[in-house]
Amino acid sequence: MKQSQPLARVELSPVPRSVTLLGATGSIGSSTVDLLRQEPSRYRVEAVTAHRNAAALAQLAREFGARFAAVADPAAYDVLKDALSGSGIETGAGADAVVEAAQRPADWVMAAITGAASLRPTLAAAERGATVALANKECLVCAGALFMRLAAAAGACVLPVDSEHNAIFQALGAGRREDVRRIILTASGGPFRTFPAEAIRKVTLEQALKHPTWTMGQKVTIDSATLMNKGLELIEAHHLFALAPEALDVVVHPQSVIHGLVEYRDGSVVAQLGSPDMRIPIAHCLAWPVRMGTPAARLDLAKLGTLTFEEPDPIRFPALALARRALTVGGAAPTVLNAANEVAVREFVDRRLGFGGIPSLVEATLDAAERQGAMAAPQSVEEALAVDHNARRLAADLLPEIAAMAS
Ligand SMILES: NC(=O)c1ccc[n+]([C@@H]2O[C@H](COP(=O)([O-])OP(=O)(O)OC[C@H]3O[C@@H](n4cnc5c(N)ncnc54)[C@H](OP(=O)(O)O)[C@@H]3O)[C@@H](O)[C@H]2O)c1
Repeated sequence: MKQSQPLARVELSPVPRSVTLLGATGSIGSSTVDLLRQEPSRYRVEAVTAHRNAAALAQLAREFGARFAAVADPAAYDVLKDALSGSGIETGAGADAVVEAAQRPADWVMAAITGAASLRPTLAAAERGATVALANKECLVCAGALFMRLAAAAGACVLPVDSEHNAIFQALGAGRREDVRRIILTASGGPFRTFPAEAIRKVTLEQALKHPTWTMGQKVTIDSATLMNKGLELIEAHHLFALAPEALDVVVHPQSVIHGLVEYRDGSVVAQLGSPDMRIPIAHCLAWPVRMGTPAARLDLAKLGTLTFEEPDPIRFPALALARRALTVGGAAPTVLNAANEVAVREFVDRRLGFGGIPSLVEATLDAAERQGAMAAPQSVEEALAVDHNARRLAADLLPEIAAMAS
């Protein structure tokens, strides 16, 4: 197995460490802010960004004395500017302002913007050689080979925040890369783990947003309910750890206590465990290469009593198999998968597509893109975004037919 170059260069960080939060107002952003509040003297905030939640962003910028705050949506700029007037904090708006935030000189950047919109800003941080705490998985699914290549060339250090990948990253410390046989990502199974297929097709948005173990943003919560989240994570793991698709496995583990496991050639399996609280993997990345305290609940195994495991069901949860197909086909297929899934989730959230229509729309878009040809791996951000835009158009065209079938 090849060593993944940009992953986790060991270096003691300066104190105070300057940090930038991309997606500061979201679920991961808020968990990161919680940790910064714990040790304010160790961290200085350079920049914070949001999509359009300007009021919350301005409040964070003031609280941490950030130097720059940016909203991606220009329509939210007036609120941001007014809320920060007289503070001395610079402000910006639009996608380029979010990229500018990432380019500013922070040692450590939390990449927690949802979706492919994270690609340009996250890459901007990696390309100046920053330490990038990568929560967003879509940017690796959209352009993983390109991202890891550019991050390595710039000498960036990529730290995995996603709990499963963070667990694998920790467990990989137990042996040599060439002795790894396979890695196993755990999946909670989501809220519909025990539902029959017919019932899953008809679940409501409210049901899908009730995750049994994790509290997360809307998109990743829906992805967890379809198991697409685990599929995206397989592709993420492939790029982060430079592992072949056959060396990547998934097991359903409803308690979400074991987050990931590494099996070595001698049969040893090394796992990382912890309460399902994102502050644990975020703290691991924030303090890296040392450890910091967190307010997360301590694990009490005796109280838990039982940990259970089962195979994922590809019939009731076809999204996982679709992600495997995209990973195996390679090239632009994961980019198409991600774009189609973003469209499908948005349509489900806006109640224009049934839950069962999410994987159907993704599959139909993959089929249509393959028929069109031009499925080579994107060699630049522009190429990745062009494939993404084309796939979104295909998905929009296919939507009426799929929505009618899924209703
Ligand atoms: N939450 C988790 O526990 C968890 C765990 C593992 C991985 N992740 C991954 O981490 C990423 C963030 O997840 P989350 O749950 O924190 O999401 P979230 O709660 O929806 O927050 C998303 C953040 O990104 C901003 N944002 C959204 N769209 C944007 C755009 N087009 N341009 C710029 N900024 C934009 C949002 O701003 P506004 O507030 O203004 O909308 C918000 O600050 C996702 O890729 C997810 O898969 C999350």
